[in-house]
Amino acid sequence: MATSNLDLADIQATVLRYRPEPYYGTHVLLRIDDARGGREFLRRLVPHVASAADWWLRDDAWIAVTLSYAGLVALGTPEQSLRSFPASFREGMAARAEHLVDVGLNGPQNWEPPFGSSQVHVALSIFSGDQLKWRQAVETAWAQFRDLRGVTLLMSQDFGAQPGDRNSLGYKDTIGQPAIEGSGVEPLPGQGRPIKAGEFVLGYPGETGVVLTMPQPDLLGRNGTYVGLRKYQSRVGAFNRFLRENANTAEERELLAAKLMGRWRSGAPLTLAPERDDPAIGADPRRNNDFDYANDAHGYQVPFGAHMRRMNPRDTRLAQLTDVNLHRIIRRSTTYGAPYDPDALSERDDEIPRGLYFIALSAKLMDTFEFLQREWINKGDFMTLGRERDPTVGLQENDAVFTIPKHPVRRRIHGIETFNVLRGGEYLFMPSLSALRWLANLGG
Ligand code: HEM
Repeated sequence: MATSNLDLADIQATVLRYRPEPYYGTHVLLRIDDARGGREFLRRLVPHVASAADWWLRDDAWIAVTLSYAGLVALGTPEQSLRSFPASFREGMAARAEHLVDVGLNGPQNWEPPFGSSQVHVALSIFSGDQLKWRQAVETAWAQFRDLRGVTLLMSQDFGAQPGDRNSLGYKDTIGQPAIEGSGVEPLPGQGRPIKAGEFVLGYPGETGVVLTMPQPDLLGRNGTYVGLRKYQSRVGAFNRFLRENANTAEERELLAAKLMGRWRSGAPLTLAPERDDPAIGADPRRNNDFDYANDAHGYQVPFGAHMRRMNPRDTRLAQLTDVNLHRIIRRSTTYGAPYDPDALSERDDEIPRGLYFIALSAKLMDTFEFLQREWINKGDFMTLGRERDPTVGLQENDAVFTIPKHPVRRRIHGIETFNVLRGGEYLFMPSLSALRWLANLGG
């Protein structure tokens, strides 16, 4: 194991720890009604918050804690510190809806409470690869606020791997992740060159060589990062109907599902398994991300509009000049609700609670996320796809299309719908452990 140049003992575990396989967990959302109660809660909780020092542990359980801007206000954070957070974070995800193209069906007016209400102050996420340890960690987390005045439980949502470790649309997910320079985590084949740590953790130089402005004092900002949390409802009926209407056999349906994503549902990338699924590749972390698009300049294997190619174009030649490594995110998404059902076809199936709590981490999360939502998800120009949007998470307009490049004639498929509907989201700050202690001790 390589040594790390980062202060791992101060950085929260989720920054480096991969989601276990299989995984179990719970998201807990809380409101702080009284600053003293909130600070007492943090004081009690901090000893149980895991650091990234032992990032390689897989089946252990860990508690992560994040705070919204409203949460920082409710804790009594000094005005000067509050003002030092980026404006987009202070406004919150709901207020940034236009910048995120969270409008219409995905707009905050349709979100589920408590999202977007300014009531979500603290978010706890408990992850584990072991069911018993998960339950124990949830109990530990609850014990820190259950009898405490001034802290109110708003929501608790269990999540976990579905059969075969698939998500709500039947895909294996959370495979492609950036390698972080100096973290001590050995890059996996295909992860590409390690990205500067400052892209993901505050207080270190980023890709441009500059340390980003941090929340003040430095003790509050350093070793922290930002988190984008988004709850999606998967419309499994609509997705299955789309596959059936556009493919005649089960094999064709699987190929179409793979074209939309860039990977077979097993996780095997189309670049390595272009004709037929190869589940052994999908299951192998040393092979399932080991590719670029050098041999697929026309998109015959992975369409330019596929979710995976949009979200990380790797070496694809883009119509708009940008450095793809400036838009990378760490993903720790979690699947909740009923398992994917390949026979679900009705509109009622669209409303059965199941989907993803999408979780992205970045030291400049708001900028990166708003860029991805606006330019790479809800537009097509950067890939010369015109008005086409991301088939997985795009907010689709009427008669939306998906193009599959083919020789001699491309195939244009109509009837793409908004298959994952946004039901809420928050911008959150993930403080370092020393920052959590600083916040807990505010007011003496
Ligand atoms: C319900 C919503 C979503 C679903 C079901 C979903 C599903 C997937 C799947 C199956 C993959 C391929 C396997 C993998 O590498 O993990 C993937 C990759 C990825 N997704 Fe999503 N995703 C969702 C939302 C988002 C959003 C909102 C973003 C960004 C704003 C995003 C960014 C990415 C990235 C960066 C990759 C990795 C690409 C690579 O490195 O090759 N996803 N997603």
